[in-house]
Amino acid sequence: MTEHVRISIEDGVLRLALARPDKKNALTMAMYAALGNALARAETDSSVRAVLIEAEGDVFTAGNDLGDFAAVAAGTLAREDMTAHLFLDALAHARKPYVAAVQGLAVGVGVTLLLHCDLVFVAEDAKLSTPFVNLALVPEAASSVLLQARIGYARAYAMFALGEPIDGRTAAAIGLANAALPAAEVRAKALNAAKLLASKPLGALQATKELMRDSKAIAAVMAKEMAIFGARLRSPETAEALRAFAERRPPDFRKFVD
Ligand code: COA
Repeated sequence: MTEHVRISIEDGVLRLALARPDKKNALTMAMYAALGNALARAETDSSVRAVLIEAEGDVFTAGNDLGDFAAVAAGTLAREDMTAHLFLDALAHARKPYVAAVQGLAVGVGVTLLLHCDLVFVAEDAKLSTPFVNLALVPEAASSVLLQARIGYARAYAMFALGEPIDGRTAAAIGLANAALPAAEVRAKALNAAKLLASKPLGALQATKELMRDSKAIAAVMAKEMAIFGARLRSPETAEALRAFAERRPPDFRKFVD
C-alpha cells in the first residue's frame, strides 16, 4: 500500500482503493500523488485495460484533507507544492476506461472525480455533496462545467452554492451514476463492470472515450478553476471556514463584505 492508497491489478483492472478510514478517506497530498502517478502509469501499462476507483470502509471520501487547505491558507504550504494537480491532470487526460464505486459519503473531489469516470456505481444511501462555497472555495476538477452538463444548472448550483447533498438513488435517477445498489453490493458490482470493460476491445473503448470527452477543453477548465481556487484558498473567508471546521463551530461570514 502506498500512502493510504491500496493499489492492485486484477484481471486487467487497476484497482485504486482509498484506505485512510480513520480520517474518512480524506485525500492528502501523498494520496493525490499516489493516485495521479498510478493513473499516469496505467496508460502505458499493457496489463491494465480498465481502472476502478473505490474506497475501503464505509465512506468513499470526505474530500480534500482540510489540514492541507489550512496549511496553504496559513502560508505554511505553498500552493505550487500541492499535488492535487497530478491527480486532476490524469483525470483530464485519461484514455483508458474508469469505473467508480461509491459507498457512504462522497464530498468535494469525491464527487467531482466521478465526472471523469465512465461507469459509476453508488450505494442507494450514499450521500454526495460538493460544499465548495461553504468553504468559501469554488468548484474544481472541471466540475463547474461538467456537473451542470450532467445534471443541469439548477441542481448543480444548489450542490455547489448551498452544499445540498443528494443521495445515491437520486444520483442514479438524474444521471450522475449508472446504478444505485445496496451498499454491500457496490464494490463487487463495479469490479465486475470494470472486468467486463477489460474484456472489450481497448482501441475501440479509447476511441469512444476520446469522441465523448474533450480532454483539452477539460484541462483548460481545470486550469481556470485552479487559478481562482488558489486565490480563494488564501482569502479571509476561507481562513474563517477552515478555523470553524477545526473548532467544530459554524462559520461566520457576515463580517466579510467582499
Ligand atoms: N480533512 C481532514 N480531516 C477530515 C476530513 C477532511 N476533509 N473529513 C473528516 N476528517 C477527520 C475529522 O477531522 C476527524 O478526525 P479526528 O478523529 O482526528 O477528530 C475524522 O476525520 C472523523 O471525522 P468526523 O468529522 O468526526 O466524522 P463525522 O461522521 O462527524 O463527519 C464529515 C464526517 C465528512 C461530514 C465531516 O468530517 C466533514 O464535514 N468533513 C469535511 C468535509 C469537507 O468539507 N471536505 C472538503 C470538501 S472540498
